[in-house]
Amino acid sequence: MNPRLEALETEALRAFRDVSDTASLEDARVRYLGRKSELTQVLRGLKDVPAADRSSHGASANALRAKLEEAYAQARTRIEGSREAAPAVLADVTLPGRGIPPGHEHLISQVLREVRDIFHGMGFSLAEGPEVESDYHNFDALNMPKGHPARAMTDTFYLRPDVLLRPHTSSVQIRVMESRRPPVRIVCPGRAYRNEAVDATHLFEFHQVEGLYVDEGVSMADLKGTLERFLKEFFGPETELRFSPSYFPFVEPGAQVEIRCLFCGGTGCSVCGPLSGGYLEVLGAGMVHPNVFRAVGYDPERWTGYAFGAGIERLVMLRHGVPDLRLLYENDVRFLHQF
Ligand code: DAH
Repeated sequence: MNPRLEALETEALRAFRDVSDTASLEDARVRYLGRKSELTQVLRGLKDVPAADRSSHGASANALRAKLEEAYAQARTRIEGSREAAPAVLADVTLPGRGIPPGHEHLISQVLREVRDIFHGMGFSLAEGPEVESDYHNFDALNMPKGHPARAMTDTFYLRPDVLLRPHTSSVQIRVMESRRPPVRIVCPGRAYRNEAVDATHLFEFHQVEGLYVDEGVSMADLKGTLERFLKEFFGPETELRFSPSYFPFVEPGAQVEIRCLFCGGTGCSVCGPLSGGYLEVLGAGMVHPNVFRAVGYDPERWTGYAFGAGIERLVMLRHGVPDLRLLYENDVRFLHQF
């Protein structure tokens, strides 16, 4: 064989044997098998070789080419195989890990806890009652006998003629007074249900907090002081309150409690609306009606008390400026993460 080809063979085989990565393998391929390689030049020059020598020259050059292609293929298998066999090099253990975003308590749960804590600080203990409630505890005992017009004020979901999903947490007052003697000082945060068409300010499932204090000599001044303290803790010390007469069958007198709009300071805005005079209704309250005491066996001549009820979603809406209550139940993390 041509000594030039022999030298080339030794050199090229060594090169293919020694390469250890894809880039140097490609360099070796271009160099020994590429269009401009020596071997390719030799093969191209065969036409100029005297006819007598041409076939032997051609045969040895083609044999070399086949040999080098084989060496190239082997080197490639070796390099690719080693890359698969050692995947560990692909993981950079010094990179920071991918974090798992932590969840947190839902805004409604936060506010329920906060409301409970504020009242706890004023000596109220926690009470609970069933969400599936009897017609008696929800209406009759709260001074709303059958046929009372106030029964129609809320669209109640009935499960049976005498069993319903409670439309307010006031029924818990009755449950508590039935089971213990005064003095009683409780709050009951919980769910309530009404057959409402859902929109930005109405949900069919929502939360309320009910409060009740019964003792000797409880007055409207106690009620005002307690609610003022609660609202200032919840909405901030600057909060201004207004009590106006209102009607709820289970209290007499009854009051509606409003706060001056936190967003415009009472000049009128999209939160408090043009007709509110800059005040926002936050809860209903009053002095427990004697008929309610009679229903639970408390002597109305001796015991006095106040009660109040507030919508939790409404408190949330007013404090955080949430424009649409449905946001609270859609569980979109972009919304929830803000609180
Ligand atoms: N139960 C009333 C409602 O659902 C709220 C309420 C008003 C509760 C006055 C009370 C109260 O305890 O005294 O709208």
